[in-house]
Amino acid sequence: MNQSQYSAMQQTALVSNNGLKPVDYRSDTVSMPSEAMKLYAASCPLGDDVFEEDPTVKALEEKVADLLGKPAALFFPTGTQSNLAAVLSHCQRGEEVLIGDNYHIYRDEARGVSVLGGVTMETMTTDKTGRLLLEDIKAAIKPDDPHCAITRLVCLENTVSGCVQNQQELDAIADYAHKNNLSVHLDGARLFNAAAAQESAISDMAKKADSVSLCLSKGLGTPAGSVLVGSRDLIKRAKRNRKMLGGGMRQVGFLAACGIYALDNNVNRLVDDHRIAKQLANELSTIEQLEVDLDLVQTNMLFIRPRANNHQQLQEFLGQHNVLIGGQVPFIRMVTHMDILEEDAERTVDLFKQFYQVK
Ligand SMILES: Cc1ncc(COP(=O)(O)O)c(C=O)c1O
Repeated sequence: MNQSQYSAMQQTALVSNNGLKPVDYRSDTVSMPSEAMKLYAASCPLGDDVFEEDPTVKALEEKVADLLGKPAALFFPTGTQSNLAAVLSHCQRGEEVLIGDNYHIYRDEARGVSVLGGVTMETMTTDKTGRLLLEDIKAAIKPDDPHCAITRLVCLENTVSGCVQNQQELDAIADYAHKNNLSVHLDGARLFNAAAAQESAISDMAKKADSVSLCLSKGLGTPAGSVLVGSRDLIKRAKRNRKMLGGGMRQVGFLAACGIYALDNNVNRLVDDHRIAKQLANELSTIEQLEVDLDLVQTNMLFIRPRANNHQQLQEFLGQHNVLIGGQVPFIRMVTHMDILEEDAERTVDLFKQFYQVK
């Protein structure tokens, strides 16, 4: 099959029965690798990465380490494994992590750090923007007392549910943690979104964290992959943990190449996703039957609540028109990404208005 036949097949796969392009708001993970990304990946040299012989993986790791201003980096298949290997590299069994109660490592990673690592998690209540308070961290650090777990690590996250965290506050938490012999891990699955939203250098946002996990398969649009950065020592431990967790991969330069392509081509365009999310939120907020918290629309996510609790009917109606949303209750999360264009958002708003019979 030549390239154009292959592209035609891909396009057909994307267009469902009713001929409308699917517009999928369930997550930014659903975006498809572009043809250019795939062609670039196909052109990169490969080797066995467990033998440390894949030049493309090495190039990606060096690139991300440089971008984040850290000495070393390690490629992982997923963000979950990268976070888990990081926590296991910072903590021993019986030690404790302080973490926000709605952060991904605590809520959405099957409690792997506890189940597999014997590391406990103490949660801090966060507000709706995911903000963690220094006072709560101070109060949660355990004394040197045999009754208590040994507090070892603070886990931060940015963005949290699309919300950008205040950098000064994160830095103050990290400074306090370090003064108290704790390490700091930052789950920066969408750190590039946070950087784009506040026009910050990503290295400044990573500076005080001892390790940072970045996802390439969300807003950056690769099929898979995350990168953990930190000191050489930390990354050496993380490499052993990655192997133990089954994440040592072979000719994985294919995926790493997608990451290199994404870093070169898909970072500057994140502001487009943010603009479309804002536009969508503004328009949907004019529909009386919907509650939309505009303050929470800071990057590529918006949350809507059908006031009549007709989530399922709304989801089904949109689905019939190839617009896909999640089924969360009470707030449905909608995420914009590189496969959603302005005209797709306009069509989405029209469909919402049709469903709610807004003239
Ligand atoms: C904040 C955050 N951290 C980590 C992850 C885990 O990434 P993965 O799905 O690649 O395991 C996600 C996934 O959505 C996430 O949103």
